[in-house]
Amino acid sequence: MKNYKRYLITSALPYANGPIHIGHLAGVYVPSDIYTRYLRMKGVDVISICGSDEHGVPITLKARKEGVTPQAIVDRYHELNKKAFKDFGIAFDIYSRTSNKVHYDTASEFFKTLYDKGEFIEKSSEQYYDEEAGCFLADRYIMGTCPHCGNENAYGDQCEKCGTSLSPNDLINPHSTVSGSKPVLKETLHWYLPLDKYEPWLKKWILEEHTEWKTNVYGQCKSWIDQGLQPRAVSRDLDWGVPVPVDGAKGKVLYVWFDAPIGYISATKELTPEWEKYWKDKETRMIHFIGKDNIVFHCIIFPAMLKAEGSFILPDNVPANEFLNLENDKISTSRNWAVWLHEYLEDFPGKQDVLRYALCANAPETKDNDFTWKDFQARNNNELVAILGNFINRTLVLTNNYYEGKVPPRGKTDQNDEDVLREIGRLKNNVESSLENFRFREALKEAMNLARLGNKYLADAEPWKVVKTDPERVKTIMNISLQITANLTIIFEPFLPFSMEKLRGWINLDSMRWDNAGNTDLLSSGHQINKPDLLFDKIEDEAITKQVEKLLSTKKANEAASAKTAPAKAPVTFDDFSRMDIRTATILEAEKVPKTTKLLKLKIDTGIDTRTIVSGIAEHYDPEKIIGKQISIIANLEPRKIKGIESQGMILMAEDKDGKLVMISPSEKVSNGSTIK
Ligand code: 2FM
Ligand code: ZN
Repeated sequence: MKNYKRYLITSALPYANGPIHIGHLAGVYVPSDIYTRYLRMKGVDVISICGSDEHGVPITLKARKEGVTPQAIVDRYHELNKKAFKDFGIAFDIYSRTSNKVHYDTASEFFKTLYDKGEFIEKSSEQYYDEEAGCFLADRYIMGTCPHCGNENAYGDQCEKCGTSLSPNDLINPHSTVSGSKPVLKETLHWYLPLDKYEPWLKKWILEEHTEWKTNVYGQCKSWIDQGLQPRAVSRDLDWGVPVPVDGAKGKVLYVWFDAPIGYISATKELTPEWEKYWKDKETRMIHFIGKDNIVFHCIIFPAMLKAEGSFILPDNVPANEFLNLENDKISTSRNWAVWLHEYLEDFPGKQDVLRYALCANAPETKDNDFTWKDFQARNNNELVAILGNFINRTLVLTNNYYEGKVPPRGKTDQNDEDVLREIGRLKNNVESSLENFRFREALKEAMNLARLGNKYLADAEPWKVVKTDPERVKTIMNISLQITANLTIIFEPFLPFSMEKLRGWINLDSMRWDNAGNTDLLSSGHQINKPDLLFDKIEDEAITKQVEKLLSTKKANEAASAKTAPAKAPVTFDDFSRMDIRTATILEAEKVPKTTKLLKLKIDTGIDTRTIVSGIAEHYDPEKIIGKQISIIANLEPRKIKGIESQGMILMAEDKDGKLVMISPSEKVSNGSTIK
């Protein structure tokens, strides 16, 4: 790898519309903090940038729901999240926000530069407009019935029930969530970044020159590029955000994903007048820490923006993580299925490092992973307490007992001593190379192996026995144990900063230089250490049961909320009903629609014809097992294109309280095409 002069570390700017939870920490902020701390200890010139992402439609929706301004929402969560990061030792050099002036100026200027260079396509298109409220509607402001699963509360961009991505045109009976009225299509002008123009360059830059990127990141980029890139709108009709800085753009703001990554630049400007050396000098290595849902924005769109602008560097690596689940279920803010950082600290005061440790040891680096409270307890009791804490405690207590806290000299060493001393250096190198490759779990495991080594050394050497027969030998044993302890203090610092600060105080070690690790004479003979306390203590079953019960009651509350039977609908006339052509039909063929998880393509015999219907039931039915099944369909629903396939009708399904879909079949076999009335 090239030798860089300095590092610019960015961590995804979290939206300021909700608190931070363990998923955020495990996916982005713990790894970014470990890496930054490691670089600082190496003496590298590094800055770590983060802040609140304060724009976007969900923030305006939340504000509307609460009857407050968007600014009030972002003020609340900016402060809460800034504090949560600080409390967990996530040591950003700056935690800024995108509603401040520097950011507005920087984002406007960036847009203007691209605009003046003619980098945008200006295009008018028809978009939904709410005539009653007098505003254009972002996709999220439009709701209606999902054409795939019949969910009546689907959003204009996605049905959260069946997971299908939608566009507002797909919705049946679309209505505006602002006024409730039926939106109409109206012409509106927007600016588009022609990503297609950057496709050849992106192909070369990522697919040829960054083959070292993590497989999940590289794979996602490849799949985007292979599908062909399209121009992306970078503006929106909205009254919250950075105004589009050109004439005739009243009521238009920059799309949140255009302004947010520019937030990294504005935060750097706010941090230091020397910001340009971090952003414009090729000797800077920029690394984006993000979650997998941000990959396309950081690997394709933002780099294309930077390239179009022309004066900025590009990221050298984007070590995105996958997602963390909680007790076998997706973390969800709306379902309150999360461990919120501020709540964790109320229940486990002073135990920030335990969570940092558990999240890093189980980080979703290559695939989605699950956080369980049982695992959390086991990591604490069986690893932090039983291995690391135990070794350090024994070493420091014995040193205090035998030598009044003075490091004894190392006398004659035997083969095992020499092997152990050498192993310190080897493990340090392992931790280092894992960190350099963004393999934080592996790095942590190797660090813990050093504590394991220490424990084994003490257990084998048994100084508490030998002291009676050969006190000189014990001096050597304790000297070596103390050198291991001092090394642990350095090597664990990026992972467990709170505990290592304590430990540094106990052993009176000033150095936090990474390159001192591996050194086997960190504590010279005669060096005075202090009386230790316990570094970690056991977490009892009751504390864990309390957390599990808390989640159980959340689950129950969610179930109760979703178990409410849908309210009765307004009456319809018999004529309305009889306009629907509901019939029996038989499934002839069934196959999964490629690259989707929910959709099946069915060929059915309706008695009138043989036709294709695309249905969102793939998670409920195995395609092979439904061939020959008789079902009910709406035969005269207007055809719709779903994933490029024309779907000619809809299958009738019953949906039970937990979202399970079941086909409606006649109780006895009848001929296909029988009408249902
Ligand atoms: O996914 C998110 O939470 C976004 N707010 C991340 C933005 S990262 C950057 F571009 F600002
Ligand atoms: Zn749906």
